[in-house]
Amino acid sequence: MKLKAALIQMKVVEGKDLNLQTAEKMLRKSAKEGARLLVLPEMFNVPYDNSRFPEYAEGYPGKTTEFLKDMANELNVYIAGGSIPEQDRDRIYNTSYIFSPAGELIGKHRKAHLFDIDVEGGITFKESDVLSPGDESTIFDVDGVKMGLIICYDIRFPEFTRKLALQGAQAVLVPAAFNLVTGPAHWHLSARARALDNQVYMLLCSQSRNQESSYTAYGHSLMAGPWGDIDSELDIEEGILYVTIDTEKIEKVRNELPLLKHRREEIY
Ligand code: ACM
Repeated sequence: MKLKAALIQMKVVEGKDLNLQTAEKMLRKSAKEGARLLVLPEMFNVPYDNSRFPEYAEGYPGKTTEFLKDMANELNVYIAGGSIPEQDRDRIYNTSYIFSPAGELIGKHRKAHLFDIDVEGGITFKESDVLSPGDESTIFDVDGVKMGLIICYDIRFPEFTRKLALQGAQAVLVPAAFNLVTGPAHWHLSARARALDNQVYMLLCSQSRNQESSYTAYGHSLMAGPWGDIDSELDIEEGILYVTIDTEKIEKVRNELPLLKHRREEIY
């Protein structure tokens, strides 16, 4: 089975409406090019900045989720809506909503591992000052392909992707926003490592680089394959990466190197 996906590396700016307009243009283009699964980046409707999350946050259903639902329905595609700040009572989550072509909500993932880091001379960020973590893993079906979804920093916890693989995920979507410190060091490595260990496709979708924002995203949206290779990737500018998930390739690699079958959980 083959599934064509589009990773939409959009530039995120101040102003929710402007970001929704950019997303709409790029979603329409991706659908026109024949992609069936359209993926947006982490925090695609808001600058990635703790000071902005509360004012942009919305409950469900809200302006952004209604937009995603209507787009999925009109364009007859699956949309993994990157992530947005979700308001739920007195808490804010970093949440991804996934809609089917019928406009049904088929998945929802709240980022489970919050990005609280302090790299000397590099970058400090503390999502937990404003955001709360989710407590669940997320898996859903896209035209018969089993798909997991995690958000950015979630990729750094191998057990989380492994759990999805053991639940049958063949591909894992990762809306993300690495930066100019962690990106060059760990972006490709994390994608390839999770892909190799689990023999799955890893689809990492970043915002494009915006030098005017307080947090500069790394870009380089990419897909890593079940062999641990980088299938294809973008550079730093706004653009769309079209990729093909091929489930036969997963089967081939898993037959050649039966890593998941050779695990010995009893001694770990
Ligand atoms: C991240 O979790 N946004 C790096």
